[in-house]
Amino acid sequence: MGATALILAAGRGTRMRSQLPKVLHPLCGRPMLLWGVEAAQAAGCEVVVVVGHGADAVRAALPPGVRTAVQAEQHGTGHAVQCAQDELGGEGPLLVLAGDTPLLRPQTLRALLEGHGSALCTVLTAELAAHEVPQAEYGRLLRDAAGHPEAVIEAAHCTPAQRRVREFNTGVYCFDAGWLVREVLPALRPHPPKMELYLTDAVAAAAQAGRLRAVLHPDAAETAGVNDRAALAQAEAALRGRLNHAWMLAGVTLRQPETTCIDVGVELAPDVELGPGVCLHGRTRIGEGARVGAFSVLHSCTLLPGAVIAPFTHAEGATLHGGAQAGPFARLREGTVLEEGVRVGNFVETKKATLRRGAKASHLSYVGDAEVGPGANLGAGTITCNYDGYGKHHTQIGAGAFIGSNTALVAPVQVGEGAIVGAGSVITRDVPAQALTVSRAPQVDRPDAAPLIRRRNAVKAGKLP
Ligand code: UD1
Ligand code: CA
Repeated sequence: MGATALILAAGRGTRMRSQLPKVLHPLCGRPMLLWGVEAAQAAGCEVVVVVGHGADAVRAALPPGVRTAVQAEQHGTGHAVQCAQDELGGEGPLLVLAGDTPLLRPQTLRALLEGHGSALCTVLTAELAAHEVPQAEYGRLLRDAAGHPEAVIEAAHCTPAQRRVREFNTGVYCFDAGWLVREVLPALRPHPPKMELYLTDAVAAAAQAGRLRAVLHPDAAETAGVNDRAALAQAEAALRGRLNHAWMLAGVTLRQPETTCIDVGVELAPDVELGPGVCLHGRTRIGEGARVGAFSVLHSCTLLPGAVIAPFTHAEGATLHGGAQAGPFARLREGTVLEEGVRVGNFVETKKATLRRGAKASHLSYVGDAEVGPGANLGAGTITCNYDGYGKHHTQIGAGAFIGSNTALVAPVQVGEGAIVGAGSVITRDVPAQALTVSRAPQVDRPDAAPLIRRRNAVKAGKLP
């Protein structure tokens, strides 16, 4: 269609009470502003964003190809459009929306453009529920006795009767760009008390020229503006619901969808199954038939088809091959690779660790900067001591090696193929292949000593003379 969309995103967002510019608050892993940008692009528009408060950060968040205009001081929505007028490319339809309405769908914007015709302004409106009317801060759409739209009045300037009007301005408009730039923007006058220029004055100007359209959108929720954290949470719940619904239609089982968080950018194959409360963030990719158990949180992980993560697992930057299993209660950190058939059990932490095919670390271990050979077994409490206070060192464990429980492997160190390390050992030198290595104090047995020790202790405690 070749229309331009102007997105206003220079405001501070005071009601968020945040250091972060409002439009950069993430929703399902994507900054609020980008939801609007993507919707406008999907509706066929070229996008221009007005930046101001936090301009550098906002600009940095924008995808390539999106142009920006700067509104250095924020004197209202009308002033924001004035600041961008050189970017608006003259004639044709101009879509204007706010950076804080992330729920707008592309088809809504497309319909607004398509229906615009020869109007000077099309304003998208929606209706407040009766209980929302008294406190709602939206500008109200006023109509004349015949029902023709006349003007938008900001809630703060409404008479009590005007405030009771349920039809409100969603802040989404389609303008005749040439008319807006030549006739309206130069004529905007500041409104007391803040002396702001209101873009909404363009609505009355179009009505006076007899070429105003007001289009009532049936779904007010889609047009909701996010001004505070409560609205942020509502918007995120709505977007999460949409994403989850789409994944279910794509063949993903969500055991309790209202509790599942899947960021945009996550990729799931059919027959993936996610338990209640699962959160998938970043560039997480999950292959066919893989399962993630309840309350597990994954950041940028790759699960190949058939991998399984049991409940309450936290994983970042980990790769699990088919048939690998982790959890419950596993912590897989950056650079973890679990090959086919690997088992990583409860309270095991891994980092920059490759566990080759069929290796096991079933309980209570730390495996960092390590390679564990195929079929090797790490007993409960095996620790790779990878850090000496200065640098990180590597541990290499050979194929089929067996590490007894509560062993400390002081890196850099290697355990040869097929070796057995006795439980409780502290390994400070390389273990040869096929060796049995034990490093611990020998066991001492003193027959009948226990009663003597008990008696001595009781005397010490004053319980016996
Ligand atoms: C605005 C409308 C109101 C409408 C509501 C819909 C005006 C005067 N009011 O009110 O009729 O019901 O949106 O959500 O237009 N912005 C700038 N520069 C500025 C001021 C604002 O870029 O100087 C941007 C903000 O970053 C925001 C958007 O414009 O993304 C809307 O501003 P906001 O202050 O939230 O306007 P509302 O009070 O919600
Ligand atoms: Ca707003």
